[in-house]
Amino acid sequence: MKISARVEGISESGTVKMSSLITEDIIDLAVGELDFPTPLPIINSTIEALTSGKTRYSSVAGLDELRDGGLVTNGAKQALYMTLQTVCSLGDEVIVILPYWPTFSEQVKLAGGTPVFADISDVKSSVTDKTRAILINTPNNPTGAVYSRKLLEEIAKLGLIVISDETYCAFVYEGNHVSMRDVLPESIVITSYSKTYSLAGYRVGIVKGPEDFISSMIKLQGHCTGNVCTFAQQGALAAKGKPFFEEMKERRDVAYARCSKLWPCEKPAGGFYLFPKTDVNVQDLLKIGVAVVAGEVFGAPGHIRISFTQSVDKINEAFDRIEKWLE
Ligand SMILES: Cc1ncc(COP(=O)(O)O)c(C=O)c1O
Repeated sequence: MKISARVEGISESGTVKMSSLITEDIIDLAVGELDFPTPLPIINSTIEALTSGKTRYSSVAGLDELRDGGLVTNGAKQALYMTLQTVCSLGDEVIVILPYWPTFSEQVKLAGGTPVFADISDVKSSVTDKTRAILINTPNNPTGAVYSRKLLEEIAKLGLIVISDETYCAFVYEGNHVSMRDVLPESIVITSYSKTYSLAGYRVGIVKGPEDFISSMIKLQGHCTGNVCTFAQQGALAAKGKPFFEEMKERRDVAYARCSKLWPCEKPAGGFYLFPKTDVNVQDLLKIGVAVVAGEVFGAPGHIRISFTQSVDKINEAFDRIEKWLE
C-alpha cells in the first residue's frame, strides 16, 4: 500500500522498539514506566464507575473536576500531538532542546513543522523568523535535568509560544518543580497521570493553556478521539499526592551511586533516568541481560539512557552484571 509521505517521513519510536526486544531474563532498565501497582483508591473508583454504568460517551473536554479549565487527553502523548497540530502551520520551525524525547521531533514533523535542535545554553541563536514555538521538558527525559525558575524566565523572554512537557513533575528530588505556567501564564503545559500514579495504561493526561487555545484543542479532540475513557477519568479523580516519590528517590540514589562509579554521569535532579556518557553498545548489554536505550535515540550518541523504575534489587543486579562484563 502506498503510505502517505507524512507517515513515511517519521521514524519508529526507539524506546518502544527496545521494549519489544525484552524477554523474561532481561532486567528492563529501558522502560519509562513504574513497576508499582496502581493505588487501590484509583482502582476502586474505576470499578465503581464501571459498575454504575459510566461506560458511555462523556464530555469531550473531560470531567470538570479533572480538567480544571484545561483539557483531558489520552495521556501526555496525545496532548502533545494535538498541541502541535493546533500551534504549527506548514513550514513553521519548532525549537526542540537536545537531547530530546524522540516523540517531540516526530510530532513536530506530523504537524507540518520542522524541528530545530538546540542546546539549552544556546537557544537564542536558533531563533529565526520562521520560529513558532519552543518545546521544553522539565524534569527531562533523558537527562533528569530540572529547569530552574531563572532558566524558565530566560526561555519566556524569547517571546515564543512555549510548550512545556511536565509529565515527570511529581518526581523532583532536588529543590522544587517550577511549572512554566508559573513563570509565563500564557504558556502551554502538559502533565500526565501515567508516571505520577503508575497508571500509564489508563491514558489520562491534561493540557492547560490560553482559553482560545484550549477551545481549539477541544474542537480538534471532538473530531479525533472524543472523550478520554469515561471510567478511566473517574478512576483518576481518586488520585492524590505523590505516592511513589520516596521509593523513586531511593532508586535514584542507588542507581546514581552505581552508575557514576562506571561512567561520567550528571546526578538526575528529577525524572526516571540516568544519562551517562559511554560508548558501550546497547546490544552488548542486552546480551548480558540488561536493557537500556542508546543515546542516538535522543539525538545524543555517546550516551545511554538507564531507567531506574525497577526495584533496588533489580537495579543492583543490573549493575552487578554490567560491572562483571566490563572487567
Ligand atoms: C517526556 C515524556 N512525555 C510524555 C510521555 C508520555 O506520557 P503519557 O503516558 O501520558 O502519554 C513520556 C513517556 O515516556 C515522556 O517521557
